[in-house]
Amino acid sequence: MSTVGQPLSRADGRLKVTGGARYTADIPGSAFVNAAIVYSTIANGRVVSIDATAAENAPGVLVVLTHKNTPRMKALPWSHLRPQGQTYLPLQDDRVHYAGQPVALVVGTTLDQATYAGTLIKVAYENNVPAIFDLRTAKKDAVEPSQRMWPLSSSIGDADKAITGAAVQIEHTYTMPDRHHNPMEPHVTLAVWDDDGTLTLYDSTQMVVGTRKLASQVLGVPEEKINVVCEFLGGGFGGKSWSWPHTLLAALAAKVVNRPVRLQLTRAQMYSMAGHQAATVQTTALGADHDGKLTGIRHHSVNPTSIFDDYVEYAAMASRHLWHASGGISTSHKVVRVNRNSPVVLRAPMEAQGHFAVECAMDELAYATGVDPVALRLRNDTDTDPYSGRPFSTRALHECLTQGAARFGWDNRTPEPRSMREGCYLIGQGMAAAIYTHWRWPGKARVTLNADGSALVEAAAHDIGTGTYTIMARVASDVLGLTPDKVTVRLGDTRLPESHPAIGSSTTANATAAVMLAAQVARAKAIELALAGRDAPIAGAVAKDVIIVESGLALAKRNLNINYAKLLTRNGLSSLVGHGDYDPVEEVNGPKAMFSFAAVFAEVRVDPDLGVVRLNRFVGAYDAGRIVNPKTARSQAIGGIIWGTGQALLEQSETDPVSGQFINRNYSGYLVPTNADIPELDVLFVGDFDEEASPLGAKGLGELTAVSVAPAIANAVYHATGKRVRDLPITIEKVL
Ligand code: MOS
Repeated sequence: MSTVGQPLSRADGRLKVTGGARYTADIPGSAFVNAAIVYSTIANGRVVSIDATAAENAPGVLVVLTHKNTPRMKALPWSHLRPQGQTYLPLQDDRVHYAGQPVALVVGTTLDQATYAGTLIKVAYENNVPAIFDLRTAKKDAVEPSQRMWPLSSSIGDADKAITGAAVQIEHTYTMPDRHHNPMEPHVTLAVWDDDGTLTLYDSTQMVVGTRKLASQVLGVPEEKINVVCEFLGGGFGGKSWSWPHTLLAALAAKVVNRPVRLQLTRAQMYSMAGHQAATVQTTALGADHDGKLTGIRHHSVNPTSIFDDYVEYAAMASRHLWHASGGISTSHKVVRVNRNSPVVLRAPMEAQGHFAVECAMDELAYATGVDPVALRLRNDTDTDPYSGRPFSTRALHECLTQGAARFGWDNRTPEPRSMREGCYLIGQGMAAAIYTHWRWPGKARVTLNADGSALVEAAAHDIGTGTYTIMARVASDVLGLTPDKVTVRLGDTRLPESHPAIGSSTTANATAAVMLAAQVARAKAIELALAGRDAPIAGAVAKDVIIVESGLALAKRNLNINYAKLLTRNGLSSLVGHGDYDPVEEVNGPKAMFSFAAVFAEVRVDPDLGVVRLNRFVGAYDAGRIVNPKTARSQAIGGIIWGTGQALLEQSETDPVSGQFINRNYSGYLVPTNADIPELDVLFVGDFDEEASPLGAKGLGELTAVSVAPAIANAVYHATGKRVRDLPITIEKVL
């Protein structure tokens, strides 16, 4: 009676469309007062003086905090083991490191009162010239960063020699701009201190557990005195995966005024109070034989970072694992320090930028050698990870390429640029392949089987909007023999069993595996009762002969069964509790290399007179292991393709070259795809159960689907127009 693999609608769908889902800012409480941030208009310098008198005397104002009177926080060095988006903490000194940095925080009874009072504050600055990231000079200004999550560079074989000696050589620089996450739900924190010193943070975060840890370290409050709650997220995309200064400021402000405080960022503040995706300048070189077989790959990436944190966007990492190259592969990364807030992951970090460089270069190689782009990739496929030398756990890239191409009708494509037309439009068809890191993280979960035949799943994991509530209910119900609607799932609260953040597309494979293990423990306890409990219905049988039937257990051979309600009641129990503790070895330390894979196919139509590029249709073929719920998986893929279409054609955060500020910091200036931009999207899943990747057989899916959309579209634009655009987004002026 397993329902895994059947399409299941969202458990929280009704709540969301009826307004019943309580997002952080919606949490009611008339006791909350409101904080408003006043931020720096300069990018580099010093606050010389602040006159807050008028603000302090304005109606409803409780306090104005500046660097002079804000309680001190403990500054911590950056570590990828700490969930700190930015190490520099505002309102602690008079320095200004970036435009948009808070210089004052006003707490007022209402948000309007606080915001208005903020406009009355007069700040005098010493204004120095800011350091700004410039794509043209980036390589010259680049330095080795001091901190790192993975090795900054890699070298297998001798890539330089292999490329220099190759019959065909391709080398180009690919660039893309800063981007912002722009979730519909702004970042918001509600901070409440109880009389006993317990701090509760209702926070729009992708990691309640990490937020608790960071708040504890920076504010000096023991972890057991902090609760962090986030039941629903209105989009995160990586921007809410680390903690940002406003969360800490909200806690401090609540302490100072001795009242619960709500601090919500404005849309403009989301461009400087939380991270963004750093621009990259990447140079990719390929060497190959005349038949397109790769001999060497070299990939170098530079990204801007803040003055105080060396955030590295590991864009060249894609080239470490994607293709076999007989002579060698080398990759490297550098950063340029500029007067900005710290960058952060944005889906799909590292890979989505890196694939634009390597998969556009592969298309250029296809044209240089006359080998079909799909055939070229099949020719360079590998079962062994070139970087670590380990076999891949599963790698159905071949199936992604062949089945995706078949679904798309790739064979009907004529390879010559400008050779396909539809009325007045030029038609272009392009494709790209993708590899995405499979993350393995520990997580705990608790499953309670109740005497009424219902079950409760609990974990301090998240539903970032992707369907975690739904798949966790499904997995528990599948183990226990319940229908999914009998299972309630509680997430996003540090008082629940500790789990991992909703990042790296990891929740199905890891946090949900813990749910499966917990449900198995609860089931084993039920089986034990049926075999040896009071009036044991199947006494004398052995556990392995017991099967799960709807809402109960049975001994198939003897046609004996009992439902959970009867079983528990008979034994005087109101519930059975199972604990799950999933603790996988880290991917790098395992025997197999684990990644998910994709091949994606885009058709564009280009108006030759206006240079407007429109996506006509799109096929994505994915290997993300076993698909637990095809319906939410398909939604994931659609979301990822739309996300990648934004990267390809629309999104860019522009910098004022004088002040260093992001200038288009709202939804009218920062373009994202809307319904009219998106045609029919066709999605197929070709992966199999991957036992190395997860007990559920699943690999990461969500962010995989955002990878390689941009190069597929860029390659399609080249096919349509004969114009190779190596700078994202592909806007009209670059096509004409
Ligand atoms: Mo995703 S950018 O790893 O939250």
